[in-house]
Amino acid sequence: MKYIILILLSLQLTAQTTFITPMEYASQLYKNPRGIGCHRCHGENGEGRLVATYEYKKENREFRGPAINGVDFKEFYSALNKRKRGMPSYFLTKKEVQALYLYLNKENVDAK
Ligand code: HEC
Repeated sequence: MKYIILILLSLQLTAQTTFITPMEYASQLYKNPRGIGCHRCHGENGEGRLVATYEYKKENREFRGPAINGVDFKEFYSALNKRKRGMPSYFLTKKEVQALYLYLNKENVDAK
């Protein structure tokens, strides 16, 4: 919670120069992070999503993006900075990662 307030303050400064609220910025970044949008695999609000079903050796399989709305910041940051199974690599700045985290934890903030 304390961390979220800090993120919000630092994004407020960024947003002031672009005339959008920190939450608008965060929401746009989530859907368009210089690569495939996070929502395509993790759902509109990070609740997780079934992306595809396929057959492998006559077995039905699923490709799912896990829920990412309950991950703590350290884990979130490290997941975006290492290679993971099925999870694309992004080259995001720390501020961008913070914005995404803010978006996924928006129910904890009063940001408009
Ligand atoms: C092509 C689908 C896809 C896209 C797009 C995608 N992810 Fe993922 N993501 C995955 C999969 C699959 C995993 C699980 C990887 C594993 O099991 O090791 C994952 C894992 C994660 C995790 C770790 C979850 C945990 O519990 O440790 C985080 C955090 C995450 N993604 C955030 C993001 C963010 C933020 C974006 C947008 C910048 C994004 N992802 C875009 C598929 C995707």
